[in-house]
Parts: sequence; C-alpha cells; structure tokens
Amino acid sequence: MVQGQGTERRLMRVLAGEPLSPPPAWMMRQAGRYLPEYRATRAEAGSFLDLCYSPDFAVEVTLQPIRRFGFDAAILFSDILVVPHALGQDVRFVEGEGPRLDPLAGRPEFERLRHADDPAVFTHLAPVFETVRRLRAELPPETTLLGFCGAPWTVASYMIGGRGTPDLAPARALAASDTALVDELIDRLVAVQTEYLVRQFQAGADAVQIFESHAGSLPEATGPEADALARWSFRPIARMIEGIRARVPGARIIVFARGSGLEGHARVVPETGADAVGVDWAVDLAALRARLPASTVTQGNLDPELLITGGPALDAAVDAVKAATRGLPHIFNLGHGITPPTPVAHVERMLARLRA
Ligand code: CP3
Repeated sequence: MVQGQGTERRLMRVLAGEPLSPPPAWMMRQAGRYLPEYRATRAEAGSFLDLCYSPDFAVEVTLQPIRRFGFDAAILFSDILVVPHALGQDVRFVEGEGPRLDPLAGRPEFERLRHADDPAVFTHLAPVFETVRRLRAELPPETTLLGFCGAPWTVASYMIGGRGTPDLAPARALAASDTALVDELIDRLVAVQTEYLVRQFQAGADAVQIFESHAGSLPEATGPEADALARWSFRPIARMIEGIRARVPGARIIVFARGSGLEGHARVVPETGADAVGVDWAVDLAALRARLPASTVTQGNLDPELLITGGPALDAAVDAVKAATRGLPHIFNLGHGITPPTPVAHVERMLARLRA
C-alpha cells in the first residue's frame, strides 16, 4: 500500500473517516461502453477477456475516464469472473448477452477446479497485477487506485448458474441440497480472493472494493439457514477482510452489497469490518444515514437511470445525495454501474453540479 502521499488522496481521507466537501467521486463501470474511446479500444483488443488480460489495453481504458472527468479514483479494469477463469472454469463473454461459464452443477466439476495454493492460479492472474503496477505509476498522484474482486457468494452464483440467473435459483438450490459443497466452494473463493486482493495491494492498489452484486438474492431470515445474508455473504466477506488485514495492515476496503435493503446495508460495516458501505440505488440514503453512526463512511446511491434521464431530475438527485450526506464522510458514486446508453454530457452535468 502506498504510504505518505497515498494518505493525502481525497478519497483515502474520506475512507479514513474525514468528511470532505465536495465529496470525492468515481462511478462504478466508469470505464465502459458509454465512452466512445472505450468502444474503440475494445474493438482493437479483440475479446473482452483479451482486454482484461492485456495490461496495455487495460491500463488505457482505466485511464480514459480519469482523463475525461478527473475522477478521484480509478478502478482497475478487469472483471470479477477472471477468478473462476483462473481456477480453471471455462469463462466467455457473449456479445450482447453477458458472461457464460460451464456450470458447476455438483462435486465432479468442483473437484476439477484448481486449489487456492496452486501457483498456476496466480500465473493466470499475473497480467492483472502488472496492470495495477503500471496504473499506479501512470496515474496522477492525487488519484486513488482501487482494486476489486467479487464477493464469494456473487462469484459462486455465476460459477454454479453458468450465467446471470434470475434470483440466483441454481445457487440457492445447490446451497440447500448440497450445503457442504457450496461451503467448500465459498471457502475456496475466500482463500483465493484474499490472496488476490493482497497481491493487488502489493502491486500498488490504495484500497479495494468487494462487489456483492447479488446480496439481494439472500433472504435475511429464511433459506437454508436462518440469516442467509450473514451465512453466505457477510461472514465470508469478514473472513476475507480479516485475512487481508493480517497481511496488509490497515488495508482500506469498501463493500457493496447490492439489493440487501436498508437493513442489510446498515449491517455491512459492523458485520464485515469494511471501512465503507457502498449504497445501491434502491436504498433511501437519508434513512440509512439516520440509522448509521455519523462516523460510518458511505458511498454511492445515485440511480444510474437518472444519469440517462439528465436535466432537472439528475440535478435533484445530486442535490439529494449532497443533502443526505452533508458533514458526513461520503464518496460520491452511482447506486450501480453506469449503462451504455448514458450520454457523456450527463456525466459532465452531474460532476459540475456536485463540484459547484
Ligand atoms: O470500470 C469499472 O467498473 C471496472 C471494470 C469492471 C467490469 N466489471 C468491466 C466490465 C468491474 C468492477 C466489473 C465488476 C463486475 N463484473 C460485476 C460486479 C459489479 C456489478 O455490475 O454488479 C459483475 C456482476 C460482473 C460480471 C459481468 N461482467 C457481467 C454480468 C457482464 C455483462 C453485463 C454488461 O454490463 O455487459 C460483464 C461484462 C463487463 N465487465 C463489461 C465491462 C466494461 C462490458 C463488456 C464489454 O465491454 O463488452
């Protein structure tokens, strides 16, 4: 982790609990298809995975939104599914359809996966660490560099279902019918991804975000066991965070548990040990802030749909985030990723309003 200079970065100051006005800002999926320069690099790179594994191209697309908008953070360009790929599962991205994996239907497929301590896993991921190293060297000193990975449950749900599945039915069914197997899969992911994030820190990441994009599929108090949210999501994440901090003292970590509701969001920091809670667009930010201690760091919440709408609706949404977090440590962001139809001019309008 970068010391000294790194601790002065605005986003790092907020992650340490300091309220700043205007708040530091970045956007989930800020390097993406709404940007013409991203589409051009993507076409040059070949497949989406080629883009992820080529440090030249991955560095370029990570820097594009920083050059254009001066965001306070750059997020490593990669994908949460490079980890199952490194474990030996077949992963491909089908144009216009999203990710496809050979589904992990039961124990035979699980037995074929690489172990967490197999050096081949990290040889496979070496281009990601090279991208992080080059980014830290090329980014402006004031820009925070974020690494990331998917949370074990979210990654497991893609590994089991083979794709994005409505309500994660295959993963929930397997967790109920073969709980021991899903526990072993989660354990494998906790081990691999703890090491993965430690290596991102060692390569130069200032902080990391753990994406639990499918927390919403986990009922709070029903399912295979009481409190499935703690069982499958928060406790595995807490084990990762403990493991990372044992190796990288003081590591700063944001957890985004999309779809977990007001109650779930309020539980993220106390139950995982994260430094900040990413807030999705469905949560009432003012109500959440009223529930949380003033010292809790929040991030996000602006509805990406309003970034497509633009105009006064967008201005009002920016103002609402500012009002809900005035004098409190908050990192400005969306409540989920920016989507391809978003006009670049609306991103500019949002930032002008925020920084005014
Ligand atoms: O700019 C950034 O945010 C950094 C890069 C990044 C990507 N994916 C690039 C990407 C990050 C942080 C992710 C995380 C990710 N990937 C998540 C968690 C965040 C979330 O959105 O909930 C998930 C669930 C995935 C899995 C994934 N990757 C899906 C479901 C898809 C298809 C959906 C889509 O938007 O197309 C992807 C593809 C993907 N990952 C793209 C990008 C820029 C688009 C693919 C392309 O350019 O062809």
